[in-house]
Amino acid sequence: MDANKTNLLVLLFSLFLTINLSSAQLRPNFYAGSCPNVEQIVKDAVLLKIKQASITVPALLRLYFHDCFVNGCDASVMIASTNANKAEKDHPDNLSLGGDAFDTIVKAKQALDAVPNCRNKVSCADIITIATRDVITIVGGPNYEVELGRFDGLSSTAASVEGTLPQPTDNFDKLTSYFAKNGLSVDDMVALSGAHTIGVSHCSNVFERIYDVKGEMINATYQAQLKESCPRDVDPRVVVFIDPTTPGKFDNVYYKNLQQGKGFFKSDQVLFSDRRSSPVVNLLASHGQLFSQAFANSMIKLGRVGVKTALNGNIRRNCEAFN
Ligand code: HEM
Ligand SMILES: *[C@@H]1O[C@H](CO)[C@@H](O)[C@H](O)[C@H]1NC(C)=O
Ligand SMILES: *[C@@H]1O[C@H](CO)[C@@H](O)[C@H](O)[C@H]1NC(C)=O
Repeated sequence: MDANKTNLLVLLFSLFLTINLSSAQLRPNFYAGSCPNVEQIVKDAVLLKIKQASITVPALLRLYFHDCFVNGCDASVMIASTNANKAEKDHPDNLSLGGDAFDTIVKAKQALDAVPNCRNKVSCADIITIATRDVITIVGGPNYEVELGRFDGLSSTAASVEGTLPQPTDNFDKLTSYFAKNGLSVDDMVALSGAHTIGVSHCSNVFERIYDVKGEMINATYQAQLKESCPRDVDPRVVVFIDPTTPGKFDNVYYKNLQQGKGFFKSDQVLFSDRRSSPVVNLLASHGQLFSQAFANSMIKLGRVGVKTALNGNIRRNCEAFN
């Protein structure tokens, strides 16, 4: 059997393992008794919002990543700052999380609260989880069953963001350590980074990659294009697509780009240059269906990070404020 086939089998095997090791509290039909239509209600709110602002799609996916990496998937990222507390979302690393993503969750919560039996029954953390799965499916990514039953967190501080989110200039070891802290493997990191198949970045995040190239190779044609879109004196509000080839489609072209030196961030390109992850990059680049499956499974694992229970969480009445 050739090396590629063996890799494929090993990866498939690990996918099945992750499916079975679900955390005790979380389960797909958590709201079957209290709010059986929760997923349809959230999906309708998401569809309505996307019709008004399609940038909501990547914004929500990134919001979920940040929520889960900072203090667990507990909607702590939603909390608005007050005079007494500077919340997570106001740390500079919120890196311009899109306001439309927050708005989607607020709207979905309102829609749920309009249904008497669902009122204040569904956690904001679960609403984000469902809405994120929905946007992924809508742009051509996998449709997977979400695990539910998270409670909402009781704290949200800008200080807690410090040192929890990977940076676009981080090296392989640094990136790996951020994911390991959340129980996620190198394979999960490669699969989840495939999220950069959609969405945009501000030019400043790519300056080092195009003007001060150190270590990670960059495709010369691509570099020239990026320099044109992102001159050094560019308006700081200017954004560029992260996937230059198929920016609106949730596909495995992200990995094909890496093979051609067209990783947007250094943290993307390093996944192809480092031998610890390049075999998985190559595998996902050549098997679109496998990418879909791997991404879905790693998202489910991401959704298990730091889950709160009735002991250390609650169901927020307003997603943006503590009860
Ligand atoms: C591996 C480490 C990662 C780093 C260093 C990183 C860094 C970044 C940065 C700097 C941006 C641009 C922000 C801006 O300029 O507005 C961005 C955008 C984005 N990231 Fe990541 N990211 C990582 C992993 C992930 C993961 C795991 C996900 C989701 C599963 C994700 C989803 C996204 C999405 C969807 C966008 C586009 C947002 C939009 O268009 O509004 N990223 N990322
Ligand atoms: C992110 O934080 C900055 C301050 O660092 C703030 O001006 C901005 O409004 C925040 N973004 C969101 C969506 O809350
Ligand atoms: C760089 O990109 C060009 C055009 O997008 C492509 O034809 C070429 O093969 C790439 N170079 C490498 C080294 O992959």
